[in-house]
Amino acid sequence: MGISIGMVGLGSFASCFVDLFKSHPLVDRIAFCDREPERVQKWADSTFMANKFNPKDRYYSLDDMCKADLDAIVIITQPWLHAGQAIQAMEAGKDVYSAVPIICIPDDDETLDWIGKIIDTSVRTGKHYMLGETTVYRPQTQFCMRKVKENAFGDFVYAEGEYCHDVDSACNLRQVRASRAASAAGKEGELLMKAYYDRGLKDGPMHYPTHSCAGPCFVMDTWATKVTCYGYKNRTNDPHFANSAFSDEFAFFRMANGATVRIAETREAAGRLSTVESEIFRILGTRGSFSENTWYYNGRTNHTDAQVIPPVKLSSADMFDKLPPDVEFAFKQALNKNLTVEQLKDTDFKPTGHGGSHPYLVHEFVMSVAEHRQSAINPWIAARFMTMGVMAHKSALKDGETLNVPDWGLPPQ
Ligand SMILES: NC(=O)c1ccc[n+]([C@@H]2O[C@H](COP(=O)([O-])OP(=O)(O)OC[C@H]3O[C@@H](n4cnc5c(N)ncnc54)[C@H](O)[C@@H]3O)[C@@H](O)[C@H]2O)c1
Repeated sequence: MGISIGMVGLGSFASCFVDLFKSHPLVDRIAFCDREPERVQKWADSTFMANKFNPKDRYYSLDDMCKADLDAIVIITQPWLHAGQAIQAMEAGKDVYSAVPIICIPDDDETLDWIGKIIDTSVRTGKHYMLGETTVYRPQTQFCMRKVKENAFGDFVYAEGEYCHDVDSACNLRQVRASRAASAAGKEGELLMKAYYDRGLKDGPMHYPTHSCAGPCFVMDTWATKVTCYGYKNRTNDPHFANSAFSDEFAFFRMANGATVRIAETREAAGRLSTVESEIFRILGTRGSFSENTWYYNGRTNHTDAQVIPPVKLSSADMFDKLPPDVEFAFKQALNKNLTVEQLKDTDFKPTGHGGSHPYLVHEFVMSVAEHRQSAINPWIAARFMTMGVMAHKSALKDGETLNVPDWGLPPQ
């Protein structure tokens, strides 16, 4: 028997995930929840959902969905709601997938408290939590993880991660903010945020740090121990940054494995640092390095045997792992609904969404629920990414004072 999944938060980002969750061969029931009834109706009316959706599985509050006999809940609500809702769902006996970040609020200490509560709730309830960080399943990360298994990096020396998203880029952040504020939950969120700002708390892009921090942390399987961060403050009285101490933040970290990491979070800077992507990383090792979709390797095991080996330029197709054939076929169907089964057999699988990460995130979560295990992006791993940003922002507020970064340890064995 397969598993049942409830999706809460059916706004713009959820529309990239509903078909994928519904299509996974191990999912045999899907349920929908949003406070805005028409957002539920849109999916309830979809003929593509029909074989796994019962009209009874329409919910208009998370409270009601938590009472249903579902195995897991996928949370794609506004970012300030994630942590509390994840805890509520785990307390109700559900495994949880949460869109990033763990939470996004202006209070750094409260954010750290929420991270601790998610870890504690997962341990106490035995329910699992996965953070849907897209960078972890980008093709670049998948390739680097294969190289880690071959021990091909040698010792990790240095890494960079960045999320460069200018406020006026094609995915316009002014419009995203307005769209998220338009619903009933969004209007409540505006009042919630005002209460933080009235206390004198200030935002910064390091409060949304998971895209930039995930690559270096996940590939090197390490965490930060110290940080120094500086910020750039908007100089044009742009209302978008009225409650932000900084519109761009740049941090330097000492990692537990001895490597140094630079993280850049930009919201007011034209273009981006990489020609490849705006959410990307590069990692240098003594024997192998990965940067801009290129693998560099010298084969060195000691000071006598290094070789000069030409760099290898990689395409996304080279870097993706293979999914199980039935899962790949189901996702192909979800992503090409206009094609017949015969036509699909001759169609290549082209993973889409944030570099092609979406199908892999869905597969990992569904498998973790079916196998009753923590996922690859469990609370302790997610905490590493999130804590780097929180402590970087704290450092920037103190003009770059070097701060210790708390370590959340690992899941109990
Ligand atoms: N690369 C990425 O990983 C990435 C990209 C985009 C968005 N996101 C994340 O996705 C999340 C959603 O973004 P969005 O743009 O779709 O937001 P949105 O405002 O369009 O959708 C959120 C929905 O959640 C619903 N909701 C909130 N609380 C609810 C409750 N208690 N019960 C039922 N429904 C509830 C709202 O009514 C709304 O429809 C954000 O947190 C964002 O950080 C991640």
